[in-house]
Amino acid sequence: RIPVIIDCDPGVDDTAALLLAYQMPELDIRAVTTVAGNVGVDKTTNNAKKVRNVLGADFPIFRGAEKPMFRPLVTASEFHGADGFGGVEMPVPEVDISEEKAWDAIYRIAKECNGELVLIAVGPMTNVGIALAKYKELPKLLKKIVIMGGAAIGGNVTPAAEFNIYVDPEAADMMFCCGVPVHMCGLDVTMQAYATREELAHIGDLGTPQAKLFCDVLQNGLEKYLSWGKKGVALHDPAAVLYTVYPELFTAEEAGVRVETKGPLTLGKTVTDLYSDKQFDDHNAFVVTGVDREKFLDKVYTLMEKYGKT
Ligand code: BDR
Ligand code: CA
Repeated sequence: RIPVIIDCDPGVDDTAALLLAYQMPELDIRAVTTVAGNVGVDKTTNNAKKVRNVLGADFPIFRGAEKPMFRPLVTASEFHGADGFGGVEMPVPEVDISEEKAWDAIYRIAKECNGELVLIAVGPMTNVGIALAKYKELPKLLKKIVIMGGAAIGGNVTPAAEFNIYVDPEAADMMFCCGVPVHMCGLDVTMQAYATREELAHIGDLGTPQAKLFCDVLQNGLEKYLSWGKKGVALHDPAAVLYTVYPELFTAEEAGVRVETKGPLTLGKTVTDLYSDKQFDDHNAFVVTGVDREKFLDKVYTLMEKYGKT
């Protein structure tokens, strides 16, 4: 099994990603770490606790950064809801979590995994940036980093930048430069990995509490995507999780990627060198550019179908 830490900011699609990851026998979820992003870190941590409770899981949760490394926090609560849970009302389980910080847990677990740990980061990269700054040997201990973030082309916060990178561009650039291969599931692929109203309803019809949560948490987002003229709600964070386990559903290209941290029009852009004459010396990343949407949706359905069967 692949030992993973899922670093996230639940978040509606983060919630969907956790629901899917938990049903993958290929994954050994060593921890879920939380970060400020879609909403503040108190809320993302509470939402992680809610999801864990719905899963009946016992992976540890470690709280991470309250704000980006060098900037004030920008949130996406207009999309994810004031509490970051898509308007779904659910009490926060009264459980304590460890005092250990997300970045310390990432380092400790990476050491325990002897170079096998895969870090899946689907929120702003702040915890990853802090871990890299604090622990110089961390890159040697990580097998790879799979992210939802960035885009070779375009953006969703600005014309140039995707949310997770825009929120903490310095942390993201540290990650791209750290020497660990970064697999970038950006908007190029995640906008193709959408679920239509019918597909989402089909999952909800499975009737388990987990399937219901998957469907309910994404409902408001679905309406937004449809109002923007899209065919369905983008399953951004699930795409990164599925890519980790089922790369054969996706197409990816090696590339050099750096993050723009200064440009007034391009702040947070993942400057992606797919075609130029090796402007970037190294191919530090794999840029995921395509997905077989039908097979992807089939997998999502099959995974969600497993709830209630065990
Ligand atoms: C990303 O931003 C967040 O709002 C989502 O959870 C996802 O990780 C999409 O740009
Ligand atoms: Ca996210």
